[in-house]
Amino acid sequence: MAVRTILHYPDPRLREKARPVAEITPAIKQLVDDMAETMYAAPGVGLAATQIGEPHRIFVIDTANEDEPSQLRVFINPEIVQRDGEVTWEEGCLSFPGVVEEIDRASKVRVRAMDREGKVFELDADGLLAVAVQHELDHLEGVLMIDRMGALKKRIVDRKMRRRAETRASAR
Ligand code: NI
Repeated sequence: MAVRTILHYPDPRLREKARPVAEITPAIKQLVDDMAETMYAAPGVGLAATQIGEPHRIFVIDTANEDEPSQLRVFINPEIVQRDGEVTWEEGCLSFPGVVEEIDRASKVRVRAMDREGKVFELDADGLLAVAVQHELDHLEGVLMIDRMGALKKRIVDRKMRRRAETRASAR
C-alpha cells in the first residue's frame, strides 16, 4: 500500500470524468487499498479515485468518529438510485485544503455499488454519510464543491486556491 499525492484545485485532472470499472483486478484492489491509506493519512472522510489522478469510478468513505473503530466503505461503480429531502452541510474536500463551505444536498440517498470484492450492495445513507456519498460521486463526474457554491463564494474560493497553487509552485 502507498499514500498517493492528492490533486488540488485547480488541477485540470480533477475535471476528468471517471470510467466504469469493468473487472475487479488485483490492480483495482491495489488502487482501493492505496486510496484508503491516502484518505486515512490525510486525514479525510472520503476520497475519490479522480483525486489521485486515477479516473476510475471508485471512492472510499469512513465517517466513523475518532473515538470509534474505523469503518471503511468502498464504492465501485456507484450510482444513487433514490434521493430524498434537503440538507445544507458544511463541507470540506481534500482537494480544497482550508476551505469549508455550506453546500445543499439531498438529506437521504440510497446508493448501489460494488465492494472491494465485486459484490453488489445497496446502502441507505443519511447525515454525514449521505453528504459524503454525493460529494464523492460528484468527483467521479468531474464536479467539484466549488461548482455548487454561489457566485460570490465561488470567486473567493477560486482566487484563494489559485493564489495558494502559485505560492506552492514558486516555493519549489
Ligand atoms: Ni472532495
